[in-house]
Amino acid sequence: MQRPTGIGTRLALIVLGAVFLALASPALIAFGQETTIKTVGPVVSLSCNPCHASIADNKIPGIKFSHASHILYECSGCHTKFPHQPEGTTIPNMKDCWNCHGLRHGPQGVLASGDCGVKCHLTTAKRRPKSHVPDWKNKPHVQPGVKELQTTCMRCHDRAWCDDCHLKDRIYWIPQQPYVYDPGYGCMACHGGYLPRLSGPVSGIDASAHRDTRCIDCHPDFKYTDAKDATPLWRVNAGQACQACHLTKKQTPAKLASVKAFEGSIHAKRLAEKNYKSATCASCHGGHNIERLSTPAAKRRIRLAGVQMCSDCHAGAVASYNDYWHGAAYKAGALDAPACWECHDGAHGTLPVKDPKSTASPERLGKTCGASGCHEGSDPDFAANGSSLIHRGVKIKTDNPLRKLLGAVLGFQ
Ligand code: HEC
Ligand code: HEC
Ligand code: HEC
Ligand code: HEC
Ligand code: HEC
Ligand code: HEC
Ligand code: HEC
Ligand code: HEC
Ligand code: HEC
Ligand code: HEC
Ligand code: HEC
Repeated sequence: MQRPTGIGTRLALIVLGAVFLALASPALIAFGQETTIKTVGPVVSLSCNPCHASIADNKIPGIKFSHASHILYECSGCHTKFPHQPEGTTIPNMKDCWNCHGLRHGPQGVLASGDCGVKCHLTTAKRRPKSHVPDWKNKPHVQPGVKELQTTCMRCHDRAWCDDCHLKDRIYWIPQQPYVYDPGYGCMACHGGYLPRLSGPVSGIDASAHRDTRCIDCHPDFKYTDAKDATPLWRVNAGQACQACHLTKKQTPAKLASVKAFEGSIHAKRLAEKNYKSATCASCHGGHNIERLSTPAAKRRIRLAGVQMCSDCHAGAVASYNDYWHGAAYKAGALDAPACWECHDGAHGTLPVKDPKSTASPERLGKTCGASGCHEGSDPDFAANGSSLIHRGVKIKTDNPLRKLLGAVLGFQ
């Protein structure tokens, strides 16, 4: 919503602003210099307080809304963009109220009541939007239903309500998107770092590969009641929501094949058995800071990220991967030393090493070692002898008394 600011009010605004600034920091204002209200910047109380410090006391005539009952929240919770613009001052749109009202998630369930009828719009007629033309049921709602399900309809309706009527009329409509309202950047009203008891500011998405991905694309389900679990379900859901995009035909065939291999992996198998200690996509990739792999530097970083990716769950294997030729060199940043997944079935297809299909199994290790650029021409014997060095090198060394003695005398490990 936009309110035109008349010349008079704009002047008053400028004068008020100037007076404030002059009072607050006279040194800043040289005689005759014009001062205007900034039109950019974060919409936080710090930038509004100079002029609107007593906002909680204001009563807004005509609507049942008070700043006082919302003072816990940052101004950006409703004033989603900087209100003072050259063409006028904007006030929140009703849409912005749904950033919180009706949003059900987290241990606390519904964050703020979504029932607009309780205090304000007492009759359904008053709640009925203008878009709902007469005979809206028969046809006109169909197009917007597909297009605006998540951006509009789910503010006031829920799935059960739509389904009820459809089933009665034998319309079996299954939309491609889940029936949830997307408050867009409104999530940041609370997760932007202003509320001190929240887990911490959500950041990094704007600079990541997912800057155009919506919060609800990765956080489709908030109805969790397992907040105390070591791995709460919301985390698993977020960690696996990636597949909705990365397993579609929009991906290049090579990327699609690579990610699809995850479905056959031991990690996916354990997840399917509800072992949530296993790896989701996010266990390896993280959530908000995922880089685009479009530059050689980014490719190098992910190649060398094995320690970071695997050590939460395979600390032992990461520590024991430290022989001179492979592990030690890899950890020191050598690009020609193998990353974990070059022996273990590629980035996504991880199998148990006992599985004969595993590229690290005794059956296949010879071929794996013989990959071009590695130990070309190696045979199963080479692999059988050499493999003991990969993860068991230290143990072999420390178990050998002669070696231990020599090490102590000559000072090597
Ligand atoms: C330098 C002083 C100053 C600062 C800083 C300032 N404002 Fe204002 N604001 C004013 C004045 C003066 C008015 C009244 C004139 C008017 O109605 O345009 C006003 C009016 C408004 C209005 C009402 C517009 C209307 O039509 O009713 C809103 C909303 C508003 N400010 C929000 C904000 C927010 C949010 C911030 C912080 C991001 C902010 N302002 C920062 C001086 C300021
Ligand atoms: C929960 C939503 C919400 C939050 C949070 C919020 N506002 Fe508002 N604000 C509104 C709405 C809605 C209006 C418009 C009311 C109307 O139609 O006049 C408004 C109007 C205003 C106005 C003009 C009317 C008045 O009372 O003077 C100012 C100034 C203002 N807001 C400043 C702020 C500042 C500063 C903050 C942060 C400390 C803030 N608002 C936080 C929803 C909010
Ligand atoms: C940042 C989150 C947030 C936003 C955005 C928000 N609210 Fe609220 N609102 C709350 C919370 C939390 C409560 C208190 C819990 C409850 O009553 O369910 C509340 C309470 C209320 C109440 C009942 C308390 C009272 O003052 O009578 C009304 C009415 C209300 N909000 C209206 C609005 C309107 C209108 C908007 C949009 C301009 C809005 N709210 C936007 C979080 C929000
Ligand atoms: C601001 C709240 C609001 C929004 C947003 C909204 N509706 Fe409604 N809708 C209502 C209300 C209120 C009714 C009347 C319900 C009643 O009478 O019980 C209604 C009724 C309906 C009906 C029943 C037929 C009729 O004419 O009463 C359909 C179908 C419907 N809405 C579809 C949609 C679709 C599709 C969207 C998204 C494009 C949507 N609505 C968005 C509030 C809303
Ligand atoms: C009052 C009953 C009623 C309600 C409530 C209702 N619908 Fe419908 N809907 C219908 C009827 C009847 C049709 C068939 C209309 C036609 O195709 O001419 C339909 C068809 C649709 C279609 C097209 C289905 C297809 O197979 O192509 C969509 C999309 C749709 N509705 C969305 C919604 C959404 C979203 C809601 C909830 C916000 C909703 N509807 C609520 C009665 C309803
Ligand atoms: C009104 C404030 C508010 C809004 C708006 C809000 N959240 Fe939350 N969110 C919370 C609170 C409070 C928790 C409880 C966890 C805590 O205290 O850290 C939480 C928890 C979460 C968690 C779990 C974090 C954890 O460590 O348990 C996720 C994920 C989350 N929110 C995502 C979202 C998304 C996505 C949106 C927008 C669709 C959103 N939130 C909107 C207040 C809010
Ligand atoms: C690309 C997918 C993706 C997007 C987009 C995304 N998240 Fe997340 N988010 C995750 C994953 C995955 C986790 C769990 C991180 C982990 O397990 O290390 C998470 C964790 C969180 C948490 C818990 C605290 C934390 O940082 O660990 C909050 C709160 C949260 N997200 C809110 C949001 C909000 C708000 C948005 C939109 C601005 C958003 N997320 C967008 C995937 C995403
Ligand atoms: C809404 C769709 C969507 C969701 C959900 C999503 N992504 Fe993405 N992802 C993308 C898009 C678009 C890109 C940009 C690169 C591209 O064009 O493929 C991308 C890029 C990436 C990249 C960089 C790949 C490259 O080749 O540059 C990785 C890795 C990635 N995503 C992993 C994840 C993970 C892990 C999750 C879940 C936590 C996730 N994505 C969720 C759409 C999505
Ligand atoms: C066990 C750790 C792990 C898991 C689990 C994992 N990834 Fe990856 N992913 C990687 C590694 C390592 C790379 C980099 C491979 C390379 O560059 O050689 C990668 C690369 C990618 C890429 C870039 C394209 C490509 O394949 O090179 C995308 C996209 C991606 N992963 C998405 C996902 C998604 C979606 C999931 C969940 C279905 C997932 N990843 C699960 C480790 C993992
Ligand atoms: C040069 C090939 C190679 C590389 C690189 C490699 N491994 Fe292994 N890995 C093996 C072989 C062979 C085995 C079979 C057991 C053995 O011989 O020690 C194995 C066994 C394992 C096992 C199962 C046994 C156990 O200790 O739990 C895990 C888990 C494992 N590796 C993880 C990793 C991780 C994590 C990395 C990267 C830090 C890595 N591997 C790097 C070849 C490799
Ligand atoms: C969030 C935890 C987690 C992360 C992160 C993770 N894994 Fe796993 N991994 C598991 C679990 C759980 C199993 C299944 C163990 C079992 O058999 O029950 C497993 C199994 C394996 C196995 C088979 C072990 C065997 O017994 O033969 C290999 C190899 C492996 N992972 C490699 C990796 C590599 C390489 C990475 C990093 C790129 C990685 N994992 C990241 C949890 C994880």
